[in-house]
Amino acid sequence: MDSRMQQYLSDPFLAHLYGEIRKAGPLKSAQIDITHVCNLRCQGCYFFAEDLDRFKAPKQESDFDAFVEREKARGTNYMTVVGGEPSLMLDRLKKIYDNFYLVVVTNGTRRIPYEGFENLPIAVSVWGDHETDTNLRGQGRLDVFARGLANYKDDRRVAWYYTTTPGNVHEIESVVRQCVENGNYVSFNFYGDISQASGAVDHRRGFGEVCREIDRMIELYPERILLTSYIAQSVATGELYGDRWGHEVCCTLTVDHEKNAGRLQNGKPYNTHFRAYNPDLQTTRRCCAGDDRDCSNCFECWAHFSWIILNMERHLGSKQEFTNWLTTMFLFYLSNRVVDFDSGVRLMPEIHRRLAPLREPAAPAAPTLLTETATIGDLVIESL
Ligand SMILES: C[S@@+](CC[C@H](N)C(=O)[O-])C[C@H]1O[C@@H](n2cnc3c(N)ncnc32)[C@H](O)[C@@H]1O
Ligand code: SF4
Ligand code: SF4
Repeated sequence: MDSRMQQYLSDPFLAHLYGEIRKAGPLKSAQIDITHVCNLRCQGCYFFAEDLDRFKAPKQESDFDAFVEREKARGTNYMTVVGGEPSLMLDRLKKIYDNFYLVVVTNGTRRIPYEGFENLPIAVSVWGDHETDTNLRGQGRLDVFARGLANYKDDRRVAWYYTTTPGNVHEIESVVRQCVENGNYVSFNFYGDISQASGAVDHRRGFGEVCREIDRMIELYPERILLTSYIAQSVATGELYGDRWGHEVCCTLTVDHEKNAGRLQNGKPYNTHFRAYNPDLQTTRRCCAGDDRDCSNCFECWAHFSWIILNMERHLGSKQEFTNWLTTMFLFYLSNRVVDFDSGVRLMPEIHRRLAPLREPAAPAAPTLLTETATIGDLVIESL
């Protein structure tokens, strides 16, 4: 193990986080659209923006079962399940649940039952407070947020996946409070204005204020916010140790897709196992966020987790930088319930406390770019 890492791990709290990750073991991940069908048409949804619903989900159950077996044989042990709307395909979701670690992302309009899905990490999407969410997601008629709250009252499987928009920062506190009072957890995502609606949802306004508001939510509800200041900042700035967010550094790319051939040779780390499957479960697309997606409108939070995690060596310059990295890694395992959730989530206040220097007005100097190659030890993270 790298001597600097060894030194940082003499801190019992960091050693505990690291030990939990080691105990859980490495993840080999893939993403699937479990269906091409959706009961909503949210404004600027990347899935419909690229007509990804033209790849129809297999009709035969045996074809779906064969896919599950192929992925198991390939070594996949973790799946991000999206679509389309996964809650319309409960039987298939159950098969994924029974065979892999997973997270399912849902619009919340149909409840995923407790029975049979007791430890399922459910990310329920919301894009703003009731009026905003109704306009952006419910076509001005359906209060999607209210439906989700009712469906998942006091359901500890749920972490809301709150896609924030720069012009609606003032709604963040109200949305978070309602989610917390509903008995759930909260994570954040950042809206990409693919349909160029501009105004309040225009990502070109930047996410600086959104980040500051997320920081305030962390101070208010440290035990309930499942995103760190560090991750939020990496999304908002699009910077990591001198690298600029985009395809050339992105890590959640389908490894054997022709569109990525050049990128995967540029020396930047990437997830060596990852594939993003279209709903037909035969074809794949370039990356988790689309096939022809313009990277300048992509602020995909899960993809940023991978970016940080796979750039572990660059985070060894100081104990704070290592803490930034290790808490990102731990939060990924925790949110996906790869480590024990109930005991792990109790560590959130301390995790946020360790990242408090990032939230103070006199922010620390920009991280140093490390050129030295460090040994990662035997913690296998290449394939996360
Ligand atoms: C395509 S949806 C599929 C799952 C499910 N139908 C849902 O809405 O949660 C996957 C995730 O992408 C997010 N999403 C879709 N379009 C987006 C965009 N333009 N910017 C940011 N997030 C977006 C949704 O909010 C959701 O969290
Ligand atoms: S519910 Fe999900 S898949 Fe359906 S349109 Fe909205 S974001 Fe897209
Ligand atoms: S669109 Fe996003 S996820 Fe896809 S390659 Fe670009 S940066 Fe990565």
